[in-house]
Amino acid sequence: MKKIIAPSILAIDYSQLSEQLDTLKKSAAQWLHYDVMDGHFVPNYTFGVDLLRGISKRSGLKMDIHLMVDNLDLALDIFLKENIHCLTIHYEVASPQQLIEYAKVIRSKNILAGISFKPHTDISEIIPLLPHFDLVLVMGVEPGFGGQPFMANTPQKIQFLKQHITQLQLPTLIEVDGGINASTGKLCVEAGVDILVAGSFVFKGDIIQNIQSLCEL
Ligand code: DX5
Ligand code: ZN
Repeated sequence: MKKIIAPSILAIDYSQLSEQLDTLKKSAAQWLHYDVMDGHFVPNYTFGVDLLRGISKRSGLKMDIHLMVDNLDLALDIFLKENIHCLTIHYEVASPQQLIEYAKVIRSKNILAGISFKPHTDISEIIPLLPHFDLVLVMGVEPGFGGQPFMANTPQKIQFLKQHITQLQLPTLIEVDGGINASTGKLCVEAGVDILVAGSFVFKGDIIQNIQSLCEL
């Protein structure tokens, strides 16, 4: 499968928001990664649905929502009403049974359901959930902030998930988020990743060129 590049809106230059969204529209990016933070699950705050509508309209890209929030009932109630492509929730915020129920609700809206987990969570606990989700999002950094260094054990996690997905004959996609640039991205592609999220790398310098370099990995 061809890799999907999902620039992370967290790193866009907000003083040139419209211009940079127009540039993304012309780039090889297919998805736009949108981080939602509640100041509790992670020590930072970001974006609600008003900004989402605006950037979705201007960029025309498929919106890839990454919910870093504790209150999933509220967040799903708000975000599932929007025109989004994918919605990822975190393993740490609910019981496995509740997560499966949330995945069903997300999928019932024809939105891809994603599951993510923090770097220190035991990855083997994610495996039984894979059949219930369309996508698994591997964090390359501690969630909460852009611009952090890539954790070296991330490609191993991707490889581990890929093996299980293949073994179980699942269509689950693997996405990686945090610390991605052309060299860390290459390691993830070699490990079997399908979707590369990149914030700082994409928006520092030539946006089109940076996205293209990820496409060519
Ligand atoms: C971190 C966010 C990422 C962030 C990645 O919690 O989930 O999406 O924007 O930023 P970079 O690519 O700069 O590490
Ligand atoms: Zn993210």
